[in-house]
Order: sequence, then structure tokens, then C-alpha cells
Amino acid sequence: MNLSARQRALAVAGVALAGLLAGAVPAATAQAAAAAPDIPVANVKQHLADLQSIASANGGNRAHGRPGYQASINFVKAKLDAAGFTTTIQQFTSSGATGYNLIADWPGGDANQVVMAGSHLDSVTSGPGINDNGSGSAAILETALAVARSGYQPTKHLRFAWWGAEELGLVGSRYYVNNLPATDRAKISGYLNFDMIGSPNPGYFVYDDDPTIEKTFKDYFAGLGVPTEIETEGDGRSDHASFKNVGIPVGGLFTGASRTKTSAQVQKWGGTATAFDRCYHSSCDTTANINDTALDRNSDAIAHAIWTLSSGTTNPPGKVFENTSDVSIPDNGAAVTSSVSVTGVTGNAPSNLAVGVDIIHTWRGDLVVDLVAPDGTVYNLKPFSSSDSADNVQTTYTVNASAEVANGTWSLRVQDRATYDTGYINGFKLTFS
Ligand code: TRP
Ligand code: ZN
Ligand code: CA
Repeated sequence: MNLSARQRALAVAGVALAGLLAGAVPAATAQAAAAAPDIPVANVKQHLADLQSIASANGGNRAHGRPGYQASINFVKAKLDAAGFTTTIQQFTSSGATGYNLIADWPGGDANQVVMAGSHLDSVTSGPGINDNGSGSAAILETALAVARSGYQPTKHLRFAWWGAEELGLVGSRYYVNNLPATDRAKISGYLNFDMIGSPNPGYFVYDDDPTIEKTFKDYFAGLGVPTEIETEGDGRSDHASFKNVGIPVGGLFTGASRTKTSAQVQKWGGTATAFDRCYHSSCDTTANINDTALDRNSDAIAHAIWTLSSGTTNPPGKVFENTSDVSIPDNGAAVTSSVSVTGVTGNAPSNLAVGVDIIHTWRGDLVVDLVAPDGTVYNLKPFSSSDSADNVQTTYTVNASAEVANGTWSLRVQDRATYDTGYINGFKLTFS
């Protein structure tokens, strides 16, 4: 985006006008948000069959502290590692046994804006826990694999989690949140929880928490023509409570546990006026205890929400911030700076930040030139070099500034380190691609 002569003239007034100047640049068309893929329910069901086999081979359950839980963690982790996720196992102790959370980060996206989805992977001891909560675990696993298959590059950072010891009282998720530094908590823009999403006599319940997350789910089901209700069968009875307790926006989906479906709900969703899940916390919570339609719709809704909530706003290309005030550089003296105030750029600076430098000087080798990010990080653009006798530094440097938050005050810092020749900063310009 080139600046008009008038905009340049305005910019000469300097730092205070940099934000105004950016506002004067016409908004370019934002890129269309990528649509979520359909999540193949057959793949989700295969994960459930595998979790069932794990339970069957390990005494009939996948409970905290039992070999079926460890095997479940290994199973999910191997799939994520193969797909290119960065996985971490977090250990904790509960009721005298070691528990495990599995965290999977999809490389890329804005580390300061994390969209997180989680499901508890443990079952109760009385059964294999296929609806509770193989269903949520398998659906977010397949969504993560779909992220990898499609090479999705979200604006925000994506993180998936499988919690241990939920059935002992949200132990794993609470451990994760309690051990997350406050600065990292603040980076989680939303946590989505999926616990029981394939109940055999399903209802379609959406958590009534963060309005944006709630609306994202409701809109998806409205598009399918499937009515939803607010989840009321025990708010706080799953891992989202651990996040909500520390102020992180939460949301999620649920198809019902031991509560009885009302006749009005039967009218709405079909099924029978019996428990949503008659096998809740029982040995019959097997692969036979799943409604495929509910599993399919909820898996697709999860992908829709993750794609929608992570795409964020796309920055129009070529936002320019410029300061053309002259700053004289004292001979063999202290460093001086010229600054611009960057506003309205989402997320981090680009890996190819264009740093336009215009310095008038009679022996440029005297000069050390740095870019200083808003947090004070220094990027050296040009070293001192006594033998370089040429005039002026008039060039554009490309800086990998992707570790820096874009918005804030950026400075060009110049120091003259040898006597006799002198000059001044004529202009400093940042272009965010
Ligand atoms: N795993 C949860 C539990 O055993 C199931 C559950 C009950 C639930 N009520 C809920 C999950 C409400 C989400 C929302 O308690
Ligand atoms: Zn449960
Ligand atoms: Ca000098």
C-alpha cells in the first residue's frame, strides 16, 4: 500500500500521527476465512473401537491409575505425533496414583491468542467409558488430525488436550490450569469442552457460557436445522469448570447423561422419554452405547467452532507506519531514536517485517543501527564498521519479527560511534505484510 502525497505530508508531523496515518490507509479486503472440513464419523468411530479394545485388553476400563488409561494416552499421543503435533505429557498424582494429561500444540498461529479444545480421556472403573468420554476424546482427536490433513494455518494458535482423572473430580484439568502461569492463562482466548457427545438417546445441549462460543455452536446447529437447548445437567461437572474458575472463556457440547429426556424433548429430537444415557458410568458404556448421528453432528460442530474461532481477523496486507521527522545524530555520542506507534494489527509482527531506513550521513561506517520492538527486544540492522566510508543508509531491511506483538511503539535506534562525520535520521518506516 503506497501512501498518497497528502498522507506523507501528514506523516511528517511525526509520531503522534502514525496511528492516524494507519487509519487513513484504505482497508484492503480481508482474506475469506477457511471453512472447516467435514469430520468423517467413520474415523471417529474407529477411534472409539480402538479405545474399546484398549479397555477390553486392560480389565474392562480406562480409569485413572489403571493400565487402560496409560494405553489410552499412548494411543492418542502416537496419532498426534505422526500428524505433526507437538505433544507434551503432564504428570500429576491423585489418590496415590500417577495421572497424565496429554497436551498437543499445532505449530504456528499467534501464541498470544490460543484456542483450546479438551476432553477427559479417563473412564470410571466400572466400564470402558465409550460415550463418557471416548466420544469427546475421539472427536477432538479426529478434528486435530483434520487440522493436520488440511494443512490449516489458523491466525490463532491451536491446542488440544486430553485430561486425566476427570472422574475423580476434574483433577487433571485443574492441575493444568493451576500450573499455568498467569501470563499463559491470559493467552487462552477460549476453552471448548467435549464430554459425552454421542449419548444413545441424545439431546443437543450447548453450554451457556461465553456468548461468542455459544453462538458459534448454535449457529452451526441452526444451519443443520437441529434445535438445541442450554446445558443444565450439572454446570461445573466437567473440565471446563477448571478454566472458567480462573476467568477463561469457555463453551462446549453435551448430549446428556443420566437425566431423563422429557416428552417435549422427545418431540424435538426423537428417541424415548428415558435417560439420555442409560449406561452412564456403567459397564454397558461400550461402542454399542453411541448414537452415530449425534456423534457425527457434534464432531462436525467441533471442527466448525475450532475453525471459526481460530481464524480471527486477517490483517489487510501492507499496513504502513512511518515517521519522517528529522532526528539529528550527535557525533560520537548517545543513541537517538525515531519511533512509530503501531495500532490495529492483529497478533504478532510478520516474519518478513520490512524496515525502511533513511539516514543521511557523511561516513555511514560510524553508525550502529537497531530496530527496537515494543517490548524492548533489539534487532541489529547494521553494525559499526569504521572502514565503510560511503554516505547514507538508505535501504529496507527484512526482519523476522514474528516473536513480537505487532501493536505498540517501535523505534529505530541510531548511534554514531566515531568522531568527525555526522548526520541525521531522515525517515523510518515499517511495513506489516
Ligand atoms: N463426565 C461428566 C460426569 O461424570 C458427565 C457430565 C454430567 C457432564 N453432567 C455434565 C458433562 C454436564 C458436561 C456437562 O459428571
Ligand atoms: Zn463421567
Ligand atoms: Ca561521526
